Amino acid sequence: MNPWRKGTSWGLSGLLLIAVVSGCGVVSTDNQTANPAGTTAEKKDDGKLVIGMSMDTLKEERWQKDRDLFTAKVKELGGDVKVLAANGDDSTQLSQAEQLISQGVDVLVIIPHNAEATAPIVEKAHKEGIKVISYDRLIKNSDVDYYVSFDNVRVGEMQAKAITEKVSKGNFVYIGGADTDNNAHMFKQGAMNILKALQDKGDIKIVYDQFSKDWKPEEALKNMENALTANNNNIQAVVAANDGTAGGAIQALTAQGMAGKIPVSGQDADLAAVQRIAEGKQTMTVYKPIKAIASKAAEMAVALAKNGRVDGVSGKVNNGKIDVPSILLDPIAVEKANLADTVIKDGYHKLEDVYKNVPKDQWPKP
Ligand code: BGC
Repeated sequence: MNPWRKGTSWGLSGLLLIAVVSGCGVVSTDNQTANPAGTTAEKKDDGKLVIGMSMDTLKEERWQKDRDLFTAKVKELGGDVKVLAANGDDSTQLSQAEQLISQGVDVLVIIPHNAEATAPIVEKAHKEGIKVISYDRLIKNSDVDYYVSFDNVRVGEMQAKAITEKVSKGNFVYIGGADTDNNAHMFKQGAMNILKALQDKGDIKIVYDQFSKDWKPEEALKNMENALTANNNNIQAVVAANDGTAGGAIQALTAQGMAGKIPVSGQDADLAAVQRIAEGKQTMTVYKPIKAIASKAAEMAVALAKNGRVDGVSGKVNNGKIDVPSILLDPIAVEKANLADTVIKDGYHKLEDVYKNVPKDQWPKP
């Protein structure tokens, strides 16, 4: 147990809460669904460190990898992980985080659905002496202890740069992510850093620019349909914030016979997206090695649990309230030409999966 922690006990309200939450999106990496009373006792008895992981969602492919790689690394470092995922619902995430706090986790790692709405979780955790790490997405206006992510402005810059290298004139569409996710704003800021210069020169016009609620591909599809309709299909390029939204946009383009004819960006190196890149339907994705962020976060969480601090974190990101000690990892821009040298070489996806829909004579040579 962490010497920095105040003791936590099981209150009636905690037990009631679990009864309500169980069965709705609760995930445990130990394959023990919501019956934490027993597991807590076990963990406390064997003295193992327990890290709580409160996730927005497990819907996108990447988050499943985050969960699995984070859990594996914490286990390697001698701890255990309890994971709860909120299916994109703020109040569920709040009550799940409370559940983890009352189970007596040593450190809480949060991937917020809503950058602002998760701030009270930090306060509640701190009251119990539990430190909080903001994972991938920043918790805003809170005293969150650490932040580990990628350079998200750079992600947006990479997206817009790759697109403007293909097309540098005409009508551009920006299909953003979730307005509630601080990252979506960072990605957009990065993209606009690149697009603005061309816009100021009068070379491009951003004719449509909308967020897509909860990062949903179906919202991105609607956005792209609206953009096409409003402009009589006179669109030359699409900067989409991630692979899910790119998928929605490409579906709308397909319906108009435009898929593969105009460039579309993405992010995450999802299997469906790298397949589209191999097939020429999507221009690029941004690969963020999940193993790197998951391992870094696991090391930080275990260090925090053991020592109450993490040494050697020199970066800072302001969250509206404080400068949060931060580690930002490097993203990698991926196009067809470097698919083999990046996601495939890293073992993130297998060559035969990525090129599944492409004739074999067009596969990259080993
Ligand atoms: C992450 C992206 C992800 C998106 C949707 C963002 O905060 O950084 O990798 O695609 O959320 O889940």
